[in-house]
Amino acid sequence: MLKNTRWLIIATLVVLALVVGACGAPAPPAPTEPPAPAGPTGEVEIFSWWTAGGEAEGLAAMYEVFAAEYPDLEIINATVAGGAGMEAKAVLATRLQSGDMPDSFQVHAGHELIDTWVVAEKMEPVTSVFEENNWLDVYPPGVIEVLSHDGEIWSVPVNIHRSNVLWYNKQVFEDNGLTAPATLDDLFDVAADLDAAGVTPLALGDSGVWVDIHVFESLLLATLGPDAYRGLWDGTTDWNGSGVTEALNAFADMMEYVNADHSALSWDQAAQLVVDGDAAMTIMGDWSEGYFKSVGLTPDVEFGYVPTPGTAGSFIMLSDSFGLPDGAPNRDGAIAWLTVCGSKAGQDAFNPIKGSIPARTDGDRSLYDVYLQSAMDDFASNEIVPSLAHGAAASEGWVTAFGDAMTLFVADLDVAAAQEAMAQACVDAGMCQ
Ligand code: GAL
Repeated sequence: MLKNTRWLIIATLVVLALVVGACGAPAPPAPTEPPAPAGPTGEVEIFSWWTAGGEAEGLAAMYEVFAAEYPDLEIINATVAGGAGMEAKAVLATRLQSGDMPDSFQVHAGHELIDTWVVAEKMEPVTSVFEENNWLDVYPPGVIEVLSHDGEIWSVPVNIHRSNVLWYNKQVFEDNGLTAPATLDDLFDVAADLDAAGVTPLALGDSGVWVDIHVFESLLLATLGPDAYRGLWDGTTDWNGSGVTEALNAFADMMEYVNADHSALSWDQAAQLVVDGDAAMTIMGDWSEGYFKSVGLTPDVEFGYVPTPGTAGSFIMLSDSFGLPDGAPNRDGAIAWLTVCGSKAGQDAFNPIKGSIPARTDGDRSLYDVYLQSAMDDFASNEIVPSLAHGAAASEGWVTAFGDAMTLFVADLDVAAAQEAMAQACVDAGMCQ
């Protein structure tokens, strides 16, 4: 009996096991980890001063390209507002001194990059990034040159900006029967007419002295021409010469025609005066184009543009780039960022909005508006000279000394004193006797 019962239990268990085996859910698979990301992960802190209309949107467009290509990286957008990076550069210097470096930061190609960061051994070279992406052939040799030192390339350029542009409100010009000025004499004629008509001729927003340096470099180019302008930065043009005096006189004359509140405004607030028709013109780099478009204006419709009077045929160039600080917390993430910065997709997303042209030679021209196409043509055919205000022409120490001279000059318009201070700045920089 007992034996039979045991057999019955065993048989029942076997049947049950068979039934469960046939009809039940399959055993759950052993838990597996999600696939490991193929590329770099974590946060990447990108430091820049792009907060104004046009430049902020351009940066955001490049971040979108980055997010699509590197979904496992998260951008930390570290910005410090202030045109030309005056405030940002001070914050950056403090951060780097205390070892609190971002993964990558905006830096102007040329002396600002090399003298301030590379010679001070704060950067890692990025030559290998250029080689791995086959970029050596898609950048103009002149651009590679200003990024190079000791046989290495030290940052990745995202754009080329033009400094010597005069922007004007077309309606204001039309209402006053004016045409865009080509020479400095034309500029003063137009300014006098506008002034007589009760319109502020020139918008200036020099709350940062870099704007005065910016306007003045255009005037130096106008009075000296490209060769002598270049000579200012290597000691072959005399800072005590008549071309510099003429430029200083032109600046002093110009100050008669600017908005009274100029020292309280920023470059983009000055651009807004032109947008609103409260001023007719402004001399500023082509990030103004990005600004005008960000408030809904169209080039050649609401606003026009010409080379700063007296500078046609020459292109004062500067380039924004990003570098790899030595000891970047997320080095792989930083290299991913630099890869997007130097790519065609990254540059063609950024520059049409930023108001700059790609640093690469193979940008898709059809994505660029009529102004930017003209800038591409001019960059390919003009005399290219470096910007002082934006780190290309001279070391930051020289720019600072120059800025001090400009600050005094704007206040007292003393041409002789300003010229003496500028000549001394060249001596102090070790470029003049
Ligand atoms: C320049 C910079 C431009 C633009 C401008 C105004 O120094 O190269 O990209 O941002 O300042 O902030």
